[in-house]
Amino acid sequence: MKRIAVLTSGGDAPGMNAAIRAVVRTAIAHQVEIYGIERGYQGLIDGAIIPMDARSVSGIIHHGGTILRTARCDAFREESGREQATRMLATHGIEGLVVIGGDGSYRGAHDLWKHSGIPCVGIPGTIDNDIGGTQYTIGFDTALNVAMEAIDRLRDTAAAHDRTFFVEVMGRHNGYIGMCSGLAGGAEEVLVPEKAFDAHALVETLRTGAARGKTSMIIVVAEGGDGGSAYDVAAKVAELSEFKDSRVAVIGHLQRGGTPTAFDRILASRMGVVAVKSLLDGASGVMIASENNVMVQRPFEETWTSRNLFDPDMLQVIHTLGV
Ligand code: F6P
Repeated sequence: MKRIAVLTSGGDAPGMNAAIRAVVRTAIAHQVEIYGIERGYQGLIDGAIIPMDARSVSGIIHHGGTILRTARCDAFREESGREQATRMLATHGIEGLVVIGGDGSYRGAHDLWKHSGIPCVGIPGTIDNDIGGTQYTIGFDTALNVAMEAIDRLRDTAAAHDRTFFVEVMGRHNGYIGMCSGLAGGAEEVLVPEKAFDAHALVETLRTGAARGKTSMIIVVAEGGDGGSAYDVAAKVAELSEFKDSRVAVIGHLQRGGTPTAFDRILASRMGVVAVKSLLDGASGVMIASENNVMVQRPFEETWTSRNLFDPDMLQVIHTLGV
């Protein structure tokens, strides 16, 4: 293999730049030419393919986002889009592709590989930590720490004003960021999409807290739940109870930006190295996964079954400790 390319796809995740850096420099170390594809599969279709060298990835390991930029690409779901992408890879003489992204990215990579015969290897990058086959995805640890820090800050002002805060965190359909940030931030309750919303039970929790002498409380609302947004939950609680003067904070995309943690940089660097070595060793149709801190290969098919780390025991721990 003489020439490979790398792209980032789907929602960006802190640590993607560290992964790009590792892919580029590992390729160079193996005397393989390396190209970057801008804006994910859309850039591949458009032919936004640029040569990279060791200096193209200087000074990026500590930056969030992705220097290659990213996109969610509908055109790539169509046969015609994949055909155009295949033509572009052939035009540029690209013999292997590293795809850094979330769950939708591997379906795309799988279809491209089947269509074009060009080997594809994936690296899991998403804050949601919801990809089958790997214990950790790049970006989750940073997003979790951002959410935890936000909760810490909100607790200060909540305590100062004797207020209850509803804090909304991301995660799409997965409450894992919510559960982990809630536990780490000492939240009184965490609402997750995996569990039906019970407004009366939540009011009961708040009343119990107040009866135990709590003057301020933090309720983490993971997005995607049937109770709606943190604003909806706060409104419902206000309607049903005496907790009418609460505040809402939506952390949102703040979780996706900023300096990646050491954990994410190390994970991304290790995965980037293994992804390129795997390609050069003849692997294809696999994602690099972290299993008990060892980097292994998992077939793309395994990554489609979105992994859900909902754990009722963890919620119980949050309740037990949030008394
Ligand atoms: O998948 C990552 C994620 O940040 C989810 O947590 C969130 O639901 C979604 O992407 C937001 O997507 P967008 O950036 O398109 O608003």
